Amino acid sequence: AKEQYHEFVVQEASVTRLCRNRSIMTVNGQFPGPTVEINEGDSLIVRVTNRGRYNVTVHWHGVRQMRTGWADGPEYVTQCPIRPGGSYTYRFTVGGQEGTLWWHAHSSWLRATVYGALIIRPRAGVAAYPFKTPAREIPILLGEWWDMNPIDVVRTATRTGAAPNVSDALTVNGQPGDLYGSCSSKDTATFAVKSGETSLVRFINAALNTELFVSIAGHSMTVVGADASYTKPYSTTVLMIAPGQTTDVLVTFDQPPGKYYLAARAYASAQGVPFDNTTTTAIFQYDGGAGSSPSMPTLPAYNDTAAATAFTTSLRGLRRAELPSQVDESLFFTVGVGLFNCSSGETCGGPNNTRFAASINNVSFVLPSTVSILQAHYSQQSEQQGVFTADFPANPPVEFDYTAQNVSRALWQPVPGTKVYKLKYGAAVQVVLQGTNIFAGENHPIHIHGYDFYILAQGFGNFNAAKDGLLFNLDDPPMRNTVAVPVNGWAVIRFVADNPGVWLMHCHLDVHITWGLAMAFLVEDGVGELQSLQAPPPDLPIC
Ligand code: C2O
Repeated sequence: AKEQYHEFVVQEASVTRLCRNRSIMTVNGQFPGPTVEINEGDSLIVRVTNRGRYNVTVHWHGVRQMRTGWADGPEYVTQCPIRPGGSYTYRFTVGGQEGTLWWHAHSSWLRATVYGALIIRPRAGVAAYPFKTPAREIPILLGEWWDMNPIDVVRTATRTGAAPNVSDALTVNGQPGDLYGSCSSKDTATFAVKSGETSLVRFINAALNTELFVSIAGHSMTVVGADASYTKPYSTTVLMIAPGQTTDVLVTFDQPPGKYYLAARAYASAQGVPFDNTTTTAIFQYDGGAGSSPSMPTLPAYNDTAAATAFTTSLRGLRRAELPSQVDESLFFTVGVGLFNCSSGETCGGPNNTRFAASINNVSFVLPSTVSILQAHYSQQSEQQGVFTADFPANPPVEFDYTAQNVSRALWQPVPGTKVYKLKYGAAVQVVLQGTNIFAGENHPIHIHGYDFYILAQGFGNFNAAKDGLLFNLDDPPMRNTVAVPVNGWAVIRFVADNPGVWLMHCHLDVHITWGLAMAFLVEDGVGELQSLQAPPPDLPIC
């Protein structure tokens, strides 16, 4: 295993998109940011220097960070942010994971432009892909673009309590593509392919708030991995990828030489919630196909929940699941959007003079500001110091029909708090994630830091243990780091708490994390050094 060193300088760069010139935050002036390519078992040392004007942190999305929670990155959870002028070196090893992950800023909405791919190949000379080695590999980062500075978009929304503006374009590798008028067409991302060859296409959904359907005209895709875990090969013409998720597919270019569109557009599961309804495109161009005009794939309608579900429920883990035979912690977490009352005398921009507030088990997550939760835990200044409390509820405070509409707000008024749920080292944890319809039902991509988990089942309506427990796939469930909890439905996940530290769990729609749809697990140390969190690095930023 090797050690790789990278310098990431967070700095402004000027780019033109949709005919407008904007100064954006980037890493090393690149947009999207640099691709990091490693082999399984390698270590990464990344020095991040902040030459921008905002606080920043970098999160290695999906990397397990075994015992190295200090390198995970979410601001005020595992570290204080890197101030302008400051720097911090992330050091960690990537072990036991192969496929596609990514890195992104984990501070306000900076990740709109501060993100890049993290590609993990099998250990050289020791391991190999569980499929024929592809002729080429094509990383594709799907993103979202605002004409305004995204930091201003979220600040305005936070001030008023209203929903933030939807984005002005979806992007492929930073380019909106040629359906946005003449502005962007010449910059449409184009990938050269060769007749008869098979490519490994690594899709990453780096969009802030948009789940995406993805298709390639004239070509089917064979899914072989998701979130850096291999899957049984699954052939399809449409993918649904939620923010935070990755999907690796094999594509054989077996069509007449020409140009074929790759297209992505929103899967917008919520009723009456505004969304970016545009379509982003890129082009696969065969050798000798330059002269032709590209053909367009058919994508499902924006509200086609059946298509989204058909895709997500078809994925199976390649390897037999190693599931603990018994569950030590059985948790039931509601995830959803609600509303806060506006303080008296104030005017708020949410529906009927409210502020949007999202929650898990009715607790709307608030980040600390003077120290990170991990630092507070490590130095044992916890409850007394008022940084966090360890009383996150294992179950919702009240039981009712979570998926019914028009639930009285008196029954479900989110409460702000910085609460963690404590887990003993090695505990087998099952979490039922139950979507709610208090404000509007929505598909929530729930991500857990520091862990991969098995998705045992998912369904619609209220989870019913007696009935739905029978549906659990205990044989070959997919392993992921982000699960798309179906709109007005539920998903059941399992993992073993073998990584000590403080690990954020949140909806990967940034609008929802802004509103508080998050909580953190505090996993205690086990016995001895190898089951304990490492000491913090000397250059860990302080607040
Ligand atoms: Cu992609 Cu909290 O992360």
